Amino acid sequence: MSLDGFIAGPNDSPELPLGEGGERLFEWYSSGETEYELPGTDMVFKISPQSADLLREVERTMGAFVTGRRTFDIANGWGGRPPLGVPTFVVTHTVPEEWAGEGSPFTFVTDGVEGAVEQAKRAAGDRGVAVGAASIAQQCIEAGLLDEIHVNLVPVLLGGGVRLFEHLGTAPIRLEGPRVVEAPGVTHLTFHVVKEG
Ligand SMILES: NC(=O)c1ccc[n+]([C@@H]2O[C@H](COP(=O)([O-])OP(=O)(O)OC[C@H]3O[C@@H](n4cnc5c(N)ncnc54)[C@H](OP(=O)(O)O)[C@@H]3O)[C@@H](O)[C@H]2O)c1
Repeated sequence: MSLDGFIAGPNDSPELPLGEGGERLFEWYSSGETEYELPGTDMVFKISPQSADLLREVERTMGAFVTGRRTFDIANGWGGRPPLGVPTFVVTHTVPEEWAGEGSPFTFVTDGVEGAVEQAKRAAGDRGVAVGAASIAQQCIEAGLLDEIHVNLVPVLLGGGVRLFEHLGTAPIRLEGPRVVEAPGVTHLTFHVVKEG
């Protein structure tokens, strides 16, 4: 996320997945010395040792992934190999038949974020569920479904694009933390969501 709160710049599309200027958000993935192979994919990042430790922790603890249809479409379904190689649940209004069916790592969920998180928790077993995509994360926050918020904060101001935090109403959502891991080009922040009542 940029310091001004955007996870993609303006005019995102499959041709420009992070929008105009948004590629800066991912520069830290290729500017370090430590190789990190993203499980389930053929992507190899070159990152700092601190960032690599953090990504290994995510890899160990996450057993399923929930995302939104725009992220899925913009990433072209990660070519059929979603990040972390875990069962991936895509919240959408319509099922793309070409990606669904037996053997697909994707389950398309048409009854909203609660249903997606419920199915993802079952698939993850004793591991956690990662949620990645702006509108889906916002709906999960609103529904009280998130336990933690992880932000990879990048020192850039994008000025516009896709905001991570909006449409959240005005009731304050209390957070504890952050746990901070400082690394070149990115600051990793982890917040615990306080469940009221
Ligand atoms: N910087 C990063 O690390 C990072 C990570 C992830 C994503 N991104 C960026 O974030 C952007 C995508 O985020 P986004 O918030 O625009 O979209 P999104 O959350 O990925 O997807 C939104 C879409 O999901 C479907 N949807 C959402 N809520 C639903 C519900 N309750 N029931 C049924 N369907 C529902 C709708 O699609 P349909 O109506 O078409 O089904 C909606 O248009 C992209 O630019 C992506 O590159 C950045």
